[in-house]
Amino acid sequence: MSRRLGVGLLGVGWMGALHTRSYRRLADHYPELDVTFELVAAADPDPRRRRRAVEQLGYGRADEDWRSVVEDPGVDVVSVTSPNYLHREMALGVIAANKQLWVEKPVGTSVAQTEQVALAAAAAGTVGAVGFNYRHVPLIEHAVSLVAGGSLGAITGVRGWFLNDYASDPRGPINWRFLRSEAGSGVLGDLMSHVVDLAAAIVGPLSEVVASTDVVIGRRPLASGDADHFSVVATDRGPVMPEGGMPSVPVENEDSARALVHFAGGATGFLEAGRAVVGPHCSLGIAVYGSAGSLLWDFERMNEMDLYLADAPGDPGYRRVLARPGHGDYARFQPGPAISMGYDDLKVVEAARFVRAVLGGEPCAPGLAEAVSAAQAIDAMERSAVSRSWEPVSSAGPAVGSQRATVAPGPEVTRTREGASQRTDQV
Ligand SMILES: NC(=O)c1ccc[n+]([C@@H]2O[C@H](COP(=O)([O-])OP(=O)(O)OC[C@H]3O[C@@H](n4cnc5c(N)ncnc54)[C@H](O)[C@@H]3O)[C@@H](O)[C@H]2O)c1
Repeated sequence: MSRRLGVGLLGVGWMGALHTRSYRRLADHYPELDVTFELVAAADPDPRRRRRAVEQLGYGRADEDWRSVVEDPGVDVVSVTSPNYLHREMALGVIAANKQLWVEKPVGTSVAQTEQVALAAAAAGTVGAVGFNYRHVPLIEHAVSLVAGGSLGAITGVRGWFLNDYASDPRGPINWRFLRSEAGSGVLGDLMSHVVDLAAAIVGPLSEVVASTDVVIGRRPLASGDADHFSVVATDRGPVMPEGGMPSVPVENEDSARALVHFAGGATGFLEAGRAVVGPHCSLGIAVYGSAGSLLWDFERMNEMDLYLADAPGDPGYRRVLARPGHGDYARFQPGPAISMGYDDLKVVEAARFVRAVLGGEPCAPGLAEAVSAAQAIDAMERSAVSRSWEPVSSAGPAVGSQRATVAPGPEVTRTREGASQRTDQV
């Protein structure tokens, strides 16, 4: 008989809607899970978002108070899709209520917060799935198995990047992503965390980093209306620079970050992330170089990868590999090669892994352990941007857990495009 799972949703934005669609699509792509989802309740302080939850997404009710959703006896699994600063508190609430957790990245705004959630989940036996959805790209899973199987030989070099233009227009209004109190770090937690996670999935953990961060657009206009992630303030005067008279506020965290990294396995890499880059729209990519070959993949062409294998006959050149059945979960979505999958499909894969773990089949990966590793790498980059020297990738230490919920690193020093120093106090 089909198992019923009641869904609770905390945050009805872009990710909240996507998590909801993903639960709905599970039966189509993973029928053997045999689960019926009931969309029980959603929480959001914004009344428009609460109306959307009920009228558009189909939740039974919507509340301002997320605790009422977590504590609803009809709720079994909870998606945490709110701004970053709420993730730790909400995740701990989900764990304490004995519900299962699917939380967006970053799980905390510091290593200590992330470790605290991971430890609490482990102690309670809670499943914790984390939104590192790019791991589920079939060609990334293929890359993982090529490297693990030795096809590329010993890995010596890695380039990773996430270059995005969502904050490249100075008219783009301020929102939680630009505020330390609500997002924590800027592009490090938002985009670099995906780069670090992909690199770790393919090549293994990072051991040390030296990094530099910048604020590219120092002030942004105040939002009006229902502004979202990709909004630009409408004006009939053409592009308005923040200095041009519109009320504006300072951006409190970094727009770009670049890091040289060492991997524990011996490879060296260069990782970069930018949210105010003009040109690339959503270019998340990785290149891996080994003694016997190399590969190159970019999310803007998610369903193809360039592969060079030195022992192929003649001068092999790079070969274009197209996604096909046999690569990761591709066959769950398309019956034959080169019929493209899309971004939303990756979340369906993630939902399937979460639900499979909830049903007791297997551990969930990527989960909270991967979130802790990514947080440690991001923290080392933040420290290095201040110290201007190599920093080890390490745990927040033995005090993590009930005694130490947050860390208070020193002020971050970032450089603006003009080269002026700018200090932003971390929260
Ligand atoms: N994995 C990915 O590819 C990916 C992509 C985008 C965003 N994210 C992550 O997802 C999270 C949400 O991002 P988004 O783009 O959906 O943001 P969003 O701004 O579109 O949505 C956030 C929602 O949370 C609501 N919210 C604020 N305070 C709340 C509270 N106290 N209780 C309940 N809801 C509250 C907001 O009103 C808003 O509706 C972020 O942590 C972000 O890093 C992940």
